Amino acid sequence: MNLRVQIPATLQLQVLALGLGVALSGCNTMVVGKSVGTPTDPDTRADLLVDQMTEAEKLQLVHGNLPLPPYPVPPPHGAVYWVPGITRLGIPDQLAADGPAGLGDNVGQATALPSPLASAASWDLNEAYKYGQVIGLETRAFGLNISLGGNVNLIGREPRDGRTFETGGEDPFLSGEINARHLLGVQDQYVVAGVKHYALNDQETGRTQADSVIDERSERESDLLAFEVALADSNAQMTMCAYDLVNGAYSCQNDHLLNGVLKGDWGFKGFVLSDDYATQSSVPAAVAGLDQEQSYGYYFDGIWTQESLEDALANGDMPESRLDNMVHRILRAMYAAGVFDHPASVAPIDAAGDAAIAREIEEQGAVLLKNTGGQLPLNPSAAQSIAVIGSHADLGVLSGGGSAQVTPVGGAALTLPPACPPNLPQPGGLACTNALQIYDPSPPLVAIRAVAPHAQVSYNDGTDPGAAAKLAAAASVAIVFLNDWESEGMDRAELSFPNNQDALVAAVAAANPHTVVVLENGGAHVMPWLGSVSAVLESWYPGQQGGTAIANLLFGIVNPSGKLPITFPASVSQLPRPAIPAPSSATGTFDVDYTVEGLNVGYKWFESKKLQPLFAFGYGLSYTSFSISNLGLTPNSSPATGFQVSLNLANTGSVAGAEVAQVYLGFPVGIAEPPMRLVGWTKVSLQPGAQQAVTVSVNAIGSSHPLSYWDTGSSSWVVAPGDYTVFVGNSSDNVKQAGTFHVGP
Ligand code: BGC
Repeated sequence: MNLRVQIPATLQLQVLALGLGVALSGCNTMVVGKSVGTPTDPDTRADLLVDQMTEAEKLQLVHGNLPLPPYPVPPPHGAVYWVPGITRLGIPDQLAADGPAGLGDNVGQATALPSPLASAASWDLNEAYKYGQVIGLETRAFGLNISLGGNVNLIGREPRDGRTFETGGEDPFLSGEINARHLLGVQDQYVVAGVKHYALNDQETGRTQADSVIDERSERESDLLAFEVALADSNAQMTMCAYDLVNGAYSCQNDHLLNGVLKGDWGFKGFVLSDDYATQSSVPAAVAGLDQEQSYGYYFDGIWTQESLEDALANGDMPESRLDNMVHRILRAMYAAGVFDHPASVAPIDAAGDAAIAREIEEQGAVLLKNTGGQLPLNPSAAQSIAVIGSHADLGVLSGGGSAQVTPVGGAALTLPPACPPNLPQPGGLACTNALQIYDPSPPLVAIRAVAPHAQVSYNDGTDPGAAAKLAAAASVAIVFLNDWESEGMDRAELSFPNNQDALVAAVAAANPHTVVVLENGGAHVMPWLGSVSAVLESWYPGQQGGTAIANLLFGIVNPSGKLPITFPASVSQLPRPAIPAPSSATGTFDVDYTVEGLNVGYKWFESKKLQPLFAFGYGLSYTSFSISNLGLTPNSSPATGFQVSLNLANTGSVAGAEVAQVYLGFPVGIAEPPMRLVGWTKVSLQPGAQQAVTVSVNAIGSSHPLSYWDTGSSSWVVAPGDYTVFVGNSSDNVKQAGTFHVGP
């Protein structure tokens, strides 16, 4: 992100001396190389170009640029990361911006989507594709051609992770599939899409010093699996390596992760890009598989290292063939995504159309956590009095900070200084003190008034619990908005809501038995007041249309259908690491021991330890009720390749709604797998009284390996013979039907 540029003082002086405002001529011209001729295969086209390039031209393509000679100006179009093209060969500039929740980096006003976690909570792959489409179209409309999104880190390992909101949740299959649709949506707009941060960058505390320790089987079946699924099912062309070390080697010079798993086992053909400042060397990184260094050319161009790649080629420390392969991968990625054939050009975004998608995704992704006595939906026609309280609900809705921050269309409704948790500043935590808390301009108060025109709606800012309770006591219903700001570069100190907000809810609930709580937050929270309120709606960071979507959900114009993509623990004591591991000084590494939970991330940990969470993975209520019956299991003709699950889904209530039938698999006894793993799901909309026969295919062909475990001895995925149990339900802890099938012998 632009705000965090940390250029050393000496370089800053050079930049100033060279004149930052000088116009750059020619470097942003997109020309399709005539020399590529007719081949359409991206690898062939890339090779044809590599063959014509000088060594200097190749070196130009493998690192981003500081505003220094020979490019003494900031990147065009506000890109956060820029690799100038080569005009004589028709190679366009590479111009990138974040990020996962919409076009970020303050490139311009763009559609602030609900957080990616909200998209995952929709469990809806079509909506997820639209999510990516908005990002791709808007990235392109600002003249950019690389999108730095696709955060598939499995934060279920550390639910206090400040980047939880950017991710697809704790399950590798759900996160991988949702992210794959985001990436497809982006890349279909001729914008290179990618996954990040590879790998195991699952906490922000000390993120540049953390050594993630994990065994091979756990790694393959958890964090790496999320990357594998997302890449295989999207054809995304970029993988961003992370800040942390994995088993003793920095991620961006980790031969096992890059050459071994990613490029070797998975056959990834695109390029590996370093996270900002994540490069630790020139030759060792390049040889281990890093193909391009992001903006700040510390190593590859020799600014801050003894040996640049140019030196290494000259003295034989790195073969020319490796440089050729780096350049080949970058160019093939650009060809495969369509960057050459469909150059980005600046155009207005479809703000109204994209806002409608943002609203729709929030309406599908918000999760109804509690609804006692049918408190919700509220009646939009009633002449009731409603007290709206807290979280600047009169102005807008909160968004997540850091590089995923989007500057919303219409501008921020409110900007506040960062709320760094008390455990900051931390070594390795960069962003908190630079990021801002931004409220998107969609005030719930205004939307509630619009949806319920006969109601008397009053507002209290919630800073004084006594005054808020007084307002609530005089109203027929109180709606309390709570928030918790998350950002890259920090972890939350606790799982609870900050700033005395628990006391606010307690005071309001004591004054009014009809208290509804709406949460604007990044991830899992504890709720000490849960027993005293009648309803809770999890809206995540709800985006540019958040207020409207929340009002539609509260008043039943839309029936909630989101399901939690992460477990909400009952307390931090239930976590594998009750205290977040932290470095003891600003330098040196420290271990984060992921062997504690191994492959049991999130609900798998809770199930294996028989812990009762506050809310389970997959959980979410509706204004109607559903039944799941008639489970049928049909193994494929070769059972080891998968099975079909058939079931009957019925809407047994009185309003239309959608249910997510979730299929979990238990492995044969003795295989040391978690008690259950998600292997499939389907989301079905039904009118009241309607029912539908549905089928979920669980196929072992493909990237998610539903019936396999990673066998360390043979370094391969293996299907175990024995009896498998299939659980079907509407959350990980609410199984409605179960059956078994056998894989021979
Ligand atoms: C973040 C990345 C981001 C990059 C560029 C880094 O600090 O970790 O996720 O893509 O900045 O903004």
